[in-house]
Amino acid sequence: MEGVGGTSPEMLKEESQPSHVLPTSFEANSLKKSNWGFLITGIVGGTLVAVYAVATPFVTPALRKVCLPFVPATTKQIENVVKMLRCRRGSLVDIGSGDGRIVIAAAKEGFTAVGYELNPWLVWYSRYRAWREGVHGSAKFYISDLWKVTFSQYSNVVIFGVPQMMLQLEKKLELELEDDARVIACRFPFPHWTPDHVTGEGIDTVWAYDARTFRGGAKRP
Ligand SMILES: C[S@@+](CC[C@H](N)C(=O)[O-])C[C@H]1O[C@@H](n2cnc3c(N)ncnc32)[C@H](O)[C@@H]1O
Repeated sequence: MEGVGGTSPEMLKEESQPSHVLPTSFEANSLKKSNWGFLITGIVGGTLVAVYAVATPFVTPALRKVCLPFVPATTKQIENVVKMLRCRRGSLVDIGSGDGRIVIAAAKEGFTAVGYELNPWLVWYSRYRAWREGVHGSAKFYISDLWKVTFSQYSNVVIFGVPQMMLQLEKKLELELEDDARVIACRFPFPHWTPDHVTGEGIDTVWAYDARTFRGGAKRP
């Protein structure tokens, strides 16, 4: 049935509703939508920041002058390192200690072992592993650039490096280490030194160099 001037009662009902009802439900809807927008932006943004924070320390070593990425030692490699440490004792350092596996293995063999590592995530993980394996008293980890550390206090030095850094490290260790020190290189040997012992094969090869040998009898400067 038509009302006044051809307007239906339903239309009249709609028209007579207070004008703020429709806009309010519209606002509530858009408020809900914008809340979801904020939430999704927050989740996506937070995830990106977290991925960036975790990934950056793993990627930056590749961007340095000497690219030394995180490649963990194999079980066989660790066994070979431990073999080269037989009859040795005292302090040990792993230069670029990664997830701490060599330091922890050395601590289990009775060494006072220290790892220097650039990647803070790996250092915190190493500390956790050392604690879990009950050697946190004799296995310590520091966030440090290996080129800024002096290794003179260590009588056993382990390095799983890359060929591009071995010459520079050879010179550094020659200057710093005491005469009774032993240096153990994993996978890549030092370019000029003659090893006193070699064990393993392929990627698990390990070379041991005694400071007295690589100094050729000359005293530490
Ligand atoms: C080939 S991995 C060896 C890890 C460990 N030593 C092992 O055998 O399992 C080299 C490690 O050195 C670290 N590294 C790279 N540049 C470094 C620097 N300038 N100072 C300290 N550590 C560094 C990397 O983050 C990586 O964990």
